[in-house]
Amino acid sequence: MKRYVILISGRGSNMESLLDAGLPARCAAVVSNRPDAAGLRLAAARGIDTAVVDHTAHATRDAFDAALAAEIDRHAPDLVLLAGFMRILGDAFVRRHQGRMLNIHPSLLPAFPGIRTHRQALEAGVRVHGCTVHFVTPALDGGPIVAQAAVPVAAGDDESTLAARVLAEEHRLYPRVARWFLEGRLRLEGGRPVLDGEAAPAGALHAPTAG
Ligand code: GRF
Repeated sequence: MKRYVILISGRGSNMESLLDAGLPARCAAVVSNRPDAAGLRLAAARGIDTAVVDHTAHATRDAFDAALAAEIDRHAPDLVLLAGFMRILGDAFVRRHQGRMLNIHPSLLPAFPGIRTHRQALEAGVRVHGCTVHFVTPALDGGPIVAQAAVPVAAGDDESTLAARVLAEEHRLYPRVARWFLEGRLRLEGGRPVLDGEAAPAGALHAPTAG
């Protein structure tokens, strides 16, 4: 059976949506860079191995990346899923896992990379917002887009109402994409995502709400 590792930094609701999805693989470990991440307790309560690689305990980014890579390697995962993991990873780390590492980002990339995406969207006055699952490459939030889900921005939205609407879509989208990968339907080929033999963008890759 295939194995995956989830990296988190906080609450862990995307992690839970992945664990609840009945993916055709085993979650070998949940790893956090923050010892106080609430998601660690949720994972442990499900009997999943947890580990902390505390970024504050490492003097350099390279040292942190090396410790994180060693922890991940222990579990020999087929797939690494970043789920609310809030550390920037160095090029060497990313290249080492390229093609088998996915991230969920709470905006319709390439709009609004980085943090405070919901505030950025409100300030920009966009009418449509959403989330993106992409393969991780050294460019921050810039890797090949696999799938997106869009939500409307409502009059009167604030950061928290908009975030909640997007988060509900994140919880649908990420398990879907993880399943594609774990079923061998999705891969990165020549820097482009390929689903069922078809290069992106393809109809099936735009997946708002359904399934
Ligand atoms: C999610 O919106 C994720 O996309 C973003 O941070 C949030 C993490 O939430 N990067 P959770 O820890 O998955 O609940």
